[in-house]
Amino acid sequence: QMSRRFFVGGNWKMNSSNQHLAEHTKLLNSINADDVEVVIAPPSIYLCSVRDKLDKNIGVASQNCYFVDNGAFTGEISPSMLLDNDIRYVIIGHSERRTIFHETDELIANKVAFAISKGLIVIACIGETLAERERNDTLNVVYRQLTALKEKLENEAGWKNVVIAYEPVWAIGTGKVATPAQVHKAIRDWLTKNVSSKVSSDTRIIYGGSVTADNCKELAHQPDVDGFLVGGASLKPEFVDIVRARK
Ligand code: G3P
Repeated sequence: QMSRRFFVGGNWKMNSSNQHLAEHTKLLNSINADDVEVVIAPPSIYLCSVRDKLDKNIGVASQNCYFVDNGAFTGEISPSMLLDNDIRYVIIGHSERRTIFHETDELIANKVAFAISKGLIVIACIGETLAERERNDTLNVVYRQLTALKEKLENEAGWKNVVIAYEPVWAIGTGKVATPAQVHKAIRDWLTKNVSSKVSSDTRIIYGGSVTADNCKELAHQPDVDGFLVGGASLKPEFVDIVRARK
């Protein structure tokens, strides 16, 4: 567990403005937490501005990307364009992309595999809906989403730059927080069985869903929870406390 660096991502979703980010990046630069991997994911129109303003020890992520380098794909951006602008991370498969924009397991797996092959670090999101949880299908759903990734990633090298974000859909933006340790353990066991014990022990499995300054410490000390993907609270000053959750 000590070998896995604590990871805290801030997913701004479709929020922020030039005014907000000018203030907020100053605050983020004042966090002194070199033992934590901090990654900020602004809307794509703000990626370069945020990259310019943030210190180099803080990473920047796109909230999405396509699985082709360039061409006639109106509205999309590619991994090479991200890397060209020193954006080294991408979030793929967020539940909002899956539900609102109808992204399938297969499309997501293609995007993850292509982004990895280009050298990005991928935050791959998985998680069940409330209906699936109530049907006792949580682990089936999570395993299905992981299997789709495995089919495209194949070998250990592919998994090296993947951070798995477990985000139960019913916990996103609802104020309902999961007790994710059991699912995280199940994901880790799945990796041992289906990929390798090395990938299983090296891969960060982070939690997303109504993480706040108030609940982050307890969550951060649950076994197999290697960090967070924070939505709403990542736009606020309390994000600083979430980065320091393990302190
Ligand atoms: O990607 C992070 C996310 O979906 C969680 O959002 O607002 O519940 O922290 P929120």
